[in-house]
Amino acid sequence: MYNQIHAAATFIREKLNLKADEPAGRIGVILGSGLGPFADKVSVNTKENAISYHDIPGFPTSSVVGHRSQFMRGLVEGHQVLIMQGRVHRYEGYNAAQVAFPAQVLIALGARAVILTNASGAIHNNFNVGDLMLMSDHINLTGDNPLLGANDLRLGPRFFDMSECYTPALRDLAKHLAATLHIPLQEGVYAGVLGPSYETPAEIRAFRTLGADAVGMSTIFEAIAAHHGGAEVLGISCLTNKAAGLSAQKLSHDDVTVIANQASDRLSSLLLHLIPELAKRYEQHD
Ligand code: HPA
Repeated sequence: MYNQIHAAATFIREKLNLKADEPAGRIGVILGSGLGPFADKVSVNTKENAISYHDIPGFPTSSVVGHRSQFMRGLVEGHQVLIMQGRVHRYEGYNAAQVAFPAQVLIALGARAVILTNASGAIHNNFNVGDLMLMSDHINLTGDNPLLGANDLRLGPRFFDMSECYTPALRDLAKHLAATLHIPLQEGVYAGVLGPSYETPAEIRAFRTLGADAVGMSTIFEAIAAHHGGAEVLGISCLTNKAAGLSAQKLSHDDVTVIANQASDRLSSLLLHLIPELAKRYEQHD
């Protein structure tokens, strides 16, 4: 896996005309369903800065509507940001390691922080459709893990602590900026499920009892792998619907994408302020 990750990173570095070990950027972002428009707000200097996933060796490509499947390098207030526009999911038939692969490539490219965004269903009673939610933690309900199999110590340790997978300092920074920008930001626990079927109302009642505030089909494998690789992790969910059984409305992917697109302005604004602050945090240590 180490070799595949580095082959993909080397390919991207060459496309970007970077030297072998030159960091491509300190901040990586993975954009979820309907949240792709953020990438349009980032300035891109040259055409070489956008690379289709299809061209990157070993890279999984998404079949899901609302995912654009391209890597981009852009600038936010002069700071490099690496953006994965679209992700793959376990329910597409990829294994958990393949799902986490792009997050590991971001780290191999020099990312110290990986920002994961997603669409999810709201379980907590006080959360509304269209709200953004900072992930304080997750519950992995998939029974799967991207790090199954032999561990490569070059990627991270075999056993590692998960008590702070979502970096507290990054969450504090996000909360501070959201308050300054008057962007409502909830915080809660994300239950990660396999999909592709949405949940039953009985499952949602069970997840609530377990302590989940939102539910979705992505992010947790990337978060585990990024934390394993030593990156700081921030997770932001766009709550696109009330989870099954909590409203009269039936769930549909089209509605999820529409609501995510509507919320993407607020998410973009938060990210555009967050990225320079985070970049400064890492550039001080470079
Ligand atoms: N359940 C699972 N995944 C989701 C949901 C949901 O209600 N909404 C968006 N992604």
